[in-house]
Amino acid sequence: MYSKEQTKKLQSETTALIKKKEIGAKEIESLRDVLRFHEHRYYILNDPLISDFEYDQLYKALEKLEAENPKLVTPDSPTQRVAKGLTKDFPTVPHLVPMLSLSNSYNTEDLLDFDRKARELTDETKIEYCVEPKFDGASISLIYENDLLVRGATRGDGVEGDEITTNIKQIKSIPLSAKFSEYGLETVEIRGEVLINKNNFKKYNEQLMEQGLPPLANPRNAAAGTLRIKDPKEVGKRSLEAFVYNISYFTTLRGKKVSSGLDTHSGSLEILWELGFRSPQQDKKVLEGIDAVIKHCNEYELMRDDLPYEIDGMVIKVNDVELQDKLGMTSHHPRWAIACKFKARQATSKLLGVEFQVGRTGAVTPVAKLEPVGIGGVTVSSISIHNEDYIREKDLRIGDQVLIERAGDVIPQIVKSLAEVRNGKQKKIVFPDQCPVCKSKLFKEEGEAVWRCVNIECPAQVVERIIHFTSKDAMDIRGFGDANVRKFFDLGLLTDIPGIYELDYEKIGELEGFGERSIGNLQSAINNSKNQPLNRLIYALGIRFVGETTAKTLARSVKHLLDFQNYSLEDLQNLEDIGPKVGGSIYHFFRNKDNIRMIQQLEKLGLKLKNDKKEHATGGNLAGQSFLFTGTLPTLKRSEAEGMVEANGGQILSGVSSKLNYLVVGEDAGSKLEKAKKINSIKIISEAEFLKMIPNT
Ligand code: IVH
Repeated sequence: MYSKEQTKKLQSETTALIKKKEIGAKEIESLRDVLRFHEHRYYILNDPLISDFEYDQLYKALEKLEAENPKLVTPDSPTQRVAKGLTKDFPTVPHLVPMLSLSNSYNTEDLLDFDRKARELTDETKIEYCVEPKFDGASISLIYENDLLVRGATRGDGVEGDEITTNIKQIKSIPLSAKFSEYGLETVEIRGEVLINKNNFKKYNEQLMEQGLPPLANPRNAAAGTLRIKDPKEVGKRSLEAFVYNISYFTTLRGKKVSSGLDTHSGSLEILWELGFRSPQQDKKVLEGIDAVIKHCNEYELMRDDLPYEIDGMVIKVNDVELQDKLGMTSHHPRWAIACKFKARQATSKLLGVEFQVGRTGAVTPVAKLEPVGIGGVTVSSISIHNEDYIREKDLRIGDQVLIERAGDVIPQIVKSLAEVRNGKQKKIVFPDQCPVCKSKLFKEEGEAVWRCVNIECPAQVVERIIHFTSKDAMDIRGFGDANVRKFFDLGLLTDIPGIYELDYEKIGELEGFGERSIGNLQSAINNSKNQPLNRLIYALGIRFVGETTAKTLARSVKHLLDFQNYSLEDLQNLEDIGPKVGGSIYHFFRNKDNIRMIQQLEKLGLKLKNDKKEHATGGNLAGQSFLFTGTLPTLKRSEAEGMVEANGGQILSGVSSKLNYLVVGEDAGSKLEKAKKINSIKIISEAEFLKMIPNT
């Protein structure tokens, strides 16, 4: 897409633009080109050349220029992905060419058969195939007219789909414009697949679970569901990606020759890549004859788990478009392509019963017990079914046949129950009204789907809290493990979190399976954990709604963990991304005497409750000065600005008081500004003035 020379030129233009204090309207087109170039580096090549901060600065400069010069806005400007308001509905639109599906093959015979028929119908002795991954997402169709993206649609029934252009524009790997005209094309319809990569899917599910919501079964559902969200901003946040793999229709530009690249499928993948799309250009393989194809598919299946996104097979396409036309299609699928499906990650099993488990926050989770079944090399015999609403929605009953899916390293989920094969003996799942462990009455908060045991001394909760504390993402005490925590707890050797640091190793030595070596390892893992950074400790405490990200925000905000005892609810809500729900939970946690006692005990036992960074950065430019940010800053993210203050030895305050030296004000500043105006000693400054105080900016 970008040659070496172009890359060099755009990179030096980038540097020049970053250095400029003020970018003028003359430079608007260059600024747009530079931004498009960096989007391509980031979203298509996965190889950014500038920092997110620098990109954001340039993007904001473009926004500003366009706001000042509305006539200069173009429909394919990088700013035009952003949509205001909610989508009312998604109108039905016809595809220019029906979106067919592929016939499937599950074994070598099917593939040999496909090849034999293709050779017979074309009179060829050996066929050249293009083989590429079969992306497991939601299929889309895109229309470009005169180089501009004009429409995006879902597959729908294959003939008509839903028009989702605004949501499609949120996907940064789909260019808003592409120079099809250079290839002689005027109107072009493209097919592709929208996906969410495994990493982002995992993060998204973690967020759902942190909010007490059930996770999604697989990335495919997450992608398909996201495409139909009515708030485009929310779509933008979900980090969707798109691969395009087919030009299904085009009209030609008068007087221009159509590129010969389009004569082969591999050629069109190359053209799409050159135009800035993410096509499987680097993942495709052109092979002579079906034997080489079969070998390649088998090899590729072994790499399946190493890919960042899910694929459920390979697609084998006759490469020569003339031969494709000769082969034509049935009413369902083309005769020139076939999907070679990988081993299924779905299976059916019988729901034998339901157990109710109590988690560390007291949430009672139903767990389906299943007839053991193998999926993708793992035997599954129990699966969380989340909560009462989930059970009702899926209409799960004991004795049901259920469809199970295990997508990659995702926790297995029940996709649905097979209601068609019920024999009348299936039984409803009855939710208990008492805690299955401590027998106290269960409660459900309004608007929540989860029943809870509210007895914080419930042994099930205590043991789960200890397990969470030691877990990998928390204090990461290796060698401890769930089983050991449970064992020590049952034997009375461990009764609470501080007890981890006061274990009686002599008694443990008497237990079966504990030799000198394993005790030594356990002891040093526990000791090492005392030095874990504050954010891990905060996460490990298991405060409700406080995930790893919030824990980091909290750790950054104080010098000492117990400073939170003096934080008001408002102080907490002034911190990044902390709303009333999360703030309320943190507030109550630090108002609870037992929790404070536990934290003090941990400090006595040698755990670090201080924030190192805050301690060290005392000598900088801003030493002794305190800052607070309010409103939306023109170029900086709140966290970046706060980071700059801390890196230069300054302090961030959580609220307006006479202790505050500087209030940095952005757009839509609210009550903090009003409050600060009443205190004479506070200097109210803009972001630009703030930046002047920071060296090297
Ligand atoms: S080609 C006429 N290529 O699989 C040819 N499809 O079961 C149409 N898919 O609806 C499809 N990766 O959503 C093609 N590399 C790929 C694909 C792919 C995923 C999906 C597509 C299609 C379904 C067919």
